[in-house]
Amino acid sequence: PEPPAGEAVPQAGEADLVLLRRIGVVDPASLDDYRANGGYAALREALRMGPSAVIREVSDSGLVGRGGAAFPTGRKWDGTAKRPETPRYVICNADESEPGTFKDRVLMEGDPFSVVEALTIAGFANNANHGYIYIRGEYPRALSLLENAIELAHARNLLGRDILGSGFDFDVEIRRGAGAYICGEETAIFNSIEGLRGEPRSKPPFPVERGVFGKPTAINNVETLVNVLPIMMMGGPAYAAIGTGRSTGPKLFCVSGSVERPGVYEVPFGASLRDLMDMCGGVGTGPDGRPRLPRAVLLGGAAGGFVRGDELDIPLTFEGAREAGATLGSGVILVLDDTVDLAAILVRIAAFFRDESCGQCVPCRVGTVRQEEALVRLAQDAGPRRTDIALLREVGEAMRDASICGLGQTAWNAVESAIDRLGVFGPQEEQPVKEAR
Ligand code: NAI
Ligand code: SF4
Repeated sequence: PEPPAGEAVPQAGEADLVLLRRIGVVDPASLDDYRANGGYAALREALRMGPSAVIREVSDSGLVGRGGAAFPTGRKWDGTAKRPETPRYVICNADESEPGTFKDRVLMEGDPFSVVEALTIAGFANNANHGYIYIRGEYPRALSLLENAIELAHARNLLGRDILGSGFDFDVEIRRGAGAYICGEETAIFNSIEGLRGEPRSKPPFPVERGVFGKPTAINNVETLVNVLPIMMMGGPAYAAIGTGRSTGPKLFCVSGSVERPGVYEVPFGASLRDLMDMCGGVGTGPDGRPRLPRAVLLGGAAGGFVRGDELDIPLTFEGAREAGATLGSGVILVLDDTVDLAAILVRIAAFFRDESCGQCVPCRVGTVRQEEALVRLAQDAGPRRTDIALLREVGEAMRDASICGLGQTAWNAVESAIDRLGVFGPQEEQPVKEAR
């Protein structure tokens, strides 16, 4: 079933919005409306400046991936564009499945032409004539709006042969996921597009060298691509002036849980978690009418980490989150108030990873099962705590060190931070694992 809509919330200072500026303003099915609101000016600018200048602007902007891993986009495009093998491909990763993430859905449903335009610019910069949008199967509305956008762009020579008389040919195909979280992992997407089982491949080789059909491939998240449009219009250095020195540009955050107004919010990097919570109306009151306190905030989703309710002044930047022992990941801000049963949340996270593990490698296939079992025992107070926490650490480290892909490598992140930072199962003493067992 389609998950509840990730609502884009009207914000103070809307005139400053960059990524959400057309959401709720344009008719997402109308190319004319899109063009009347600045649409396709960025593609014209890109075609005018040429592929290498486009990559230079993207590099100068400091744009890094918004899917969660924050890899520099200019470096990725440069790596793909300079490969001698042809054909090259570009892919928009729209398989947004991280629990608590719904920003790409808002972009695709509210401004679908921007995704198609940005992917066309990526194709031009990477000297690729074919692009894919790999979309989450549970996003039927986004799917039909993107199909419509591609059809209308074709009819106006914004896709297809000799786009706008530039000599550049580019086509886009949509491929739909079928409900597996792991199919959002980039190399699992390649397998899925090729008609194989959706399992990750070992990296390296990275996709820039060997991606879909074994060819150089630039694969980027929806939000990352949409950022390329303002970069083309304002230039890389002006874009880099937004945000902080190391986290540049605007960022979408998906706020959910115990807040008055959940939804997708755009702020420049560097705003604090408290600023964002204030925009959302704070934690608010519970059903009994009493004000609630924020107990913890999960940053970065199930693969991320918790910060405590008294740490709301941390800056929302990649480096700020890292220093706080968490990650911004794909922009998840899940707020938990003082009534929430944290142990139950951890069991739910562990069940999610156990369920979504593709089973290809042992540390993850077995580790996610053992992790869930230990957490169930801890949540029910049904076993020796010291032993189970030591077991969780040992299993967690094995998954982190020896799993093939990010799922297994991060499956213990949130649990570890809940134990160490929130003290969810009581104060922890430092002790060697073997001794505790
Ligand atoms: P990664 O760190 O392996 O790679 C990040 C990107 O950089 C990839 O595109 C990779 O190909 C590229 N890359 C890395 N090193 C490179 C090199 N030396 N040369 C060329 N390219 C290179 O991270 P991964 O596994 O792609 O993503 C993990 C992240 O995904 C996590 O942070 C997690 O938060 C996020 N995630 C997001 C989801 C969502 O729904 N948005 C779902 C699940 C996870
Ligand atoms: Fe599959 Fe997990 Fe291994 Fe990733 S880490 S390849 S999800 S078994």
